[in-house]
Amino acid sequence: MTVLLVARAVTHHGGHDAIHRLAAQVSATTGVPTQACFLDGAEPSLHTALDETADHAEVLLVPAHLPPDRYLDTWIRRAVAHWRATRDRHPTISVSQPLATQPSLVTAVAEATTGGHTLLDGNPGPFRSPAWSQITRHRRQVLICRGPRCTAYGANQVATALNERLAKNGLGDDDVLVTATGCLFPCNLGPLVVVHPDDTWYENVDPNLAIRIVDEHLRDGSPVDGHRPRNADSSGVRSD
Ligand code: FES
Repeated sequence: MTVLLVARAVTHHGGHDAIHRLAAQVSATTGVPTQACFLDGAEPSLHTALDETADHAEVLLVPAHLPPDRYLDTWIRRAVAHWRATRDRHPTISVSQPLATQPSLVTAVAEATTGGHTLLDGNPGPFRSPAWSQITRHRRQVLICRGPRCTAYGANQVATALNERLAKNGLGDDDVLVTATGCLFPCNLGPLVVVHPDDTWYENVDPNLAIRIVDEHLRDGSPVDGHRPRNADSSGVRSD
């Protein structure tokens, strides 16, 4: 049997080496050939790893959503510091080593390889569809920053209010494509909502403003409170 630890890379910063080291440690501990591969964002891909083991008698996939994330490690500390600074009372807060670097993970993977297995010999759904070749024809795209600071300032509530109001107005993906983003940089102005192609940046958005953005800008076409594109001159014409 060969074991493939399958991880993701798109949503994780760094950590690829760690998942490879984990695979090597599992191999050394169990004697079972074990290697790491990635569902997305890094090589070797799952396809590549399966290609390389195509002539093996048995391959066991072990989902491994645990690469350590330096961004997470850093931002946990910053978020806790912000939380502590903005609350009157708080407990003692500590942080452990990331789960992905715990030595006991090797034992956990070893146990997964010897526990119950589910044979993958069916077809749970199509891998390709004609619909997935079509670029959406939305009229506007809305970026909602879900970065750590905007999240601390209430971006989750903004996103909920905005999405619920879009649904209430019957505005679907063809009208408004909503995209959650990471940090858009002017964090101090968060929560941020950006409407394109109008290049309109809404600052300090709360659920009430999110509802107005939907009703006035996205449904009726008039930016809230006369918001203009970032680089527009006084006549409302963009200067670039
Ligand atoms: S976290 Fe939203 S702009 Fe930085």
